[in-house]
Amino acid sequence: MTGWRGLARGLADELAAEGVLRSPEWRAAVEAIPRHVFVPRFYVQRQDGRWSETSAEDDGWLTAVYRDEPLVTALATTADGDRVTVSSSTKPGLMVRMLEALDVRDEHRVLEIGTGTGYNAALLSHRLGGERVFSVDIGAALVDAARDRLAGLGLAPTLAVAHGAGGLPEHAPFDRIIATCSLRAVPWAWAEQVREGGLVLVDVKPSTHAGNLVLLVRHADRLEGRFLPRWAGFMAMRDADRAPETARVVEDLSTGSRSSTRLEPTPWSSLVPWFLAQARMPGEVAFGYRGATGRGPEWAVFGTPDGSWSAVGTQPDGNGEREVRQGGPVRLWDAVEETHRAWRGFGRPNWDRLGLTVTPDGRHRVWLDEPGNVWVAAETRQQVLPEPHRRAFNYYPRHHHG
Ligand SMILES: C[S@@+](CC[C@H](N)C(=O)[O-])C[C@H]1O[C@@H](n2cnc3c(N)ncnc32)[C@H](O)[C@@H]1O
Repeated sequence: MTGWRGLARGLADELAAEGVLRSPEWRAAVEAIPRHVFVPRFYVQRQDGRWSETSAEDDGWLTAVYRDEPLVTALATTADGDRVTVSSSTKPGLMVRMLEALDVRDEHRVLEIGTGTGYNAALLSHRLGGERVFSVDIGAALVDAARDRLAGLGLAPTLAVAHGAGGLPEHAPFDRIIATCSLRAVPWAWAEQVREGGLVLVDVKPSTHAGNLVLLVRHADRLEGRFLPRWAGFMAMRDADRAPETARVVEDLSTGSRSSTRLEPTPWSSLVPWFLAQARMPGEVAFGYRGATGRGPEWAVFGTPDGSWSAVGTQPDGNGEREVRQGGPVRLWDAVEETHRAWRGFGRPNWDRLGLTVTPDGRHRVWLDEPGNVWVAAETRQQVLPEPHRRAFNYYPRHHHG
């Protein structure tokens, strides 16, 4: 049987061959840190929705842990009785891609938001020494387990149970902040805890799937930088150490107005316009599917907390048209169509052409190619924990020609 060292080397080779793992320092970390210590068990959701557990006693556990796959490591039960993911070990290829993008130097002090299993904190501690690594998670049991695992390997980064939106001010300033959960907006508290010229790498997602990783540079008066070219998705930041509430999506589609479209089967089929369209949405968007056809669900539905909703048929008719229904105060589907039109007009830019500027007033500006070329601007309420990252409703769009 291949020991874990061979498997870790195999993982490093795979990531290097893909071009993800590039520097000798991160290769050494991937080869030296035993991921299996951080993932003593993981969960896989079956077809019927139930979760099955694989642990160290089970065949295939060790090899599964050294595959380039994300592994769900903690579940919690919602008020509705659903079992949902609250922590996972990130796909190693994504973790390494982020660490490489973070451009870490030997003397840097790094804060991680989202300790989870502790695996990434271990990679960072191998690279920098535990005294330069800080990591927080909202899950107290997660932090305890991570601390034990790290200590077992002789690594002692500073871990804390905290709401990551507040950072870790008592240990600031940092040279880098890396978040391994997604946020609706970037808390200004992080900017205050990063040295000028330092970097913040975070997955910004106003709604599920709507956003991407962005690498922001700390300037005196702002955070500013570009989205990473490849899309990635992290689980959303939670406000408390429990399962997040599942947002409800509209049930009754009979009351809405009717129209048709030639756009894609779901508004989130193209992730860039889906992100840009969030600027027109009155609050966080929840989505799901309704009905069934022989070829999958009948409707893709989405809605916002003010009661606005839209549904689009996933199957086109003979003319290539899909039915659309909309209800509530804001016509969400129209906003998606308008954003698509603008996006097509600018030549269908991908993530590599988009950037973000965040200012101390909490305003988020998404720009095309250059910071002056603002596409959408959004305001964030900068308020006391636990909701500093919630976006206010007055999120408005502006189109510039660039
Ligand atoms: C994808 S996991 C992190 C993976 C981790 N970096 C690792 O190497 O295993 C996301 C983590 O973010 C944490 N999280 C969610 N909301 C948070 C919050 N408000 N503050 C800090 N951590 C949070 C979750 O508890 C979860 O452990």
